[in-house]
Amino acid sequence: MRTRLLRWLMYGALAVTLAAPAPRADEADPARPLLSDLMLLTQLRQVKLWYAEKADNWPLAAYELDQLKSTVERMVTLYPEARSVSQRTLIRDRTDPAIEDLRRAIAARDNAGFESAYGRVTEACNACHAAANVGFIIVRPPTKSPFANQLFEPQTEKQ
Ligand code: HEC
Repeated sequence: MRTRLLRWLMYGALAVTLAAPAPRADEADPARPLLSDLMLLTQLRQVKLWYAEKADNWPLAAYELDQLKSTVERMVTLYPEARSVSQRTLIRDRTDPAIEDLRRAIAARDNAGFESAYGRVTEACNACHAAANVGFIIVRPPTKSPFANQLFEPQTEKQ
């Protein structure tokens, strides 16, 4: 009698285990950054890029643009879609071409070209936020650097 009860309990436990849903991607990899984490990194790098250009620190601007671009690439790889918006398409059609214009402006040390391309990157940020129903997140070129602990001006004698 007792063995039959034990066997019944074991089958029950097995059935519950088999019926449990497969873990979702986030549960399977808790180290995976959330989309909003990557957006925050993008936001910070967008600010650094601006102040590097304002200080005519072109090597720093080139570096920050690479950082920004690689964060955007990770965003597309991890989240090709978000909130029923194709991030892959929007970024390919709007953000990437503006980033390439930024790269050209930095190589040519062209402040006006930089600012126009920067404006287009920023418009693409807001266009996607609107499409993804988070249009209350509005970014713009910064007016004040939050990075008091980093020098943006080139230190010619040390570079
Ligand atoms: C292709 C779509 C897309 C593009 C392009 C995009 N975003 Fe986002 N962004 C989103 C989505 C979707 C969210 C909401 C994420 C969430 O909460 O899950 C978001 C959220 C954010 C947030 C809020 C994060 C927080 O925790 O406060 C910031 C800031 C942000 N984006 C900045 C930017 C900046 C800066 C750019 C451009 C350089 C940009 N985004 C470009 C889709 C986009």
